[in-house]
Amino acid sequence: MIIDGKIVSAAVKDSIKAEVAKINAAGGSTVQAAGLAVILVGSDPASQVYVRNKGQACEYCGIKSFMYVLPETASTTDVVELVETLNTDKNVHGILVQQPFPKHIDTTAVVEAVSAAKDVDAFRADSVGRIVQNTPGFLPCTPAGVMEMLKYYNIEVAGRECVVIGRSNIVGKPMAMLLLHENGTVTVCHSRTANLPEVTRRADILVSAVGRAKFVTADMVKPGAVVIDVGMNRDENGKLCGDVDFAAVAPIAGYITPVPGGVGLMTIAMLMKNTLTAYKNITA
Ligand code: GUN
Repeated sequence: MIIDGKIVSAAVKDSIKAEVAKINAAGGSTVQAAGLAVILVGSDPASQVYVRNKGQACEYCGIKSFMYVLPETASTTDVVELVETLNTDKNVHGILVQQPFPKHIDTTAVVEAVSAAKDVDAFRADSVGRIVQNTPGFLPCTPAGVMEMLKYYNIEVAGRECVVIGRSNIVGKPMAMLLLHENGTVTVCHSRTANLPEVTRRADILVSAVGRAKFVTADMVKPGAVVIDVGMNRDENGKLCGDVDFAAVAPIAGYITPVPGGVGLMTIAMLMKNTLTAYKNITA
């Protein structure tokens, strides 16, 4: 069974759209609409696509979007100064700096420059702390999107074996936490994991966030497992694909997410949700 990111993300975005419309109607033209600022440093083609899609989602939901493109040569100070300006901009309630950054940029300095109230990525150290402690705060967009998909399809997490491949700060680590909070038994695998197929075959729910085309092969998947593909790669023909060898794995999986049309759409939908939350918190 295909887990359709189009359906689930549309449900999330439609509920946001309705809430935004209600807020705006209640306040008439005196209420400032929710606003999201997206900063792109350089011209990575994949990032350009993501940033454009984020702008379109804002438009759909009735959220104002502000796009800033800085040249590849921009310094850490340039990026931090822009972020600081946006921190005090009353039209902006969420700030996202698209990753990956050019190599010379100090990722931590940029991530920590975003004010806590506008950290819709939930990348700041204090935001991550709240994720780990499971206390109220922004949820990281991609892992939260995966959880939303599981919920939509009534897929039980409690008590089940969950295996996450990848330990990035953006996906792998927070994904493990969200599954743990739903009482999954969570294993995190990475490039140094011994006998990877043996470990992944234990999974009732397998999440791959590796960034390599056809990394997850049929021999790595237990029949009937839920397979969530967070990868965004290009295959040998330049076609967009995930981490999972979809043609080989789909026949044995119980549920599987496609790429495109899967988790990527959810990341954007959850970003809209966080932006609306930021707006409500700031204007409350
Ligand atoms: N690059 C890939 N995913 C993300 C994300 O969710 N946020 C940001 N800022 N960069 C990303």
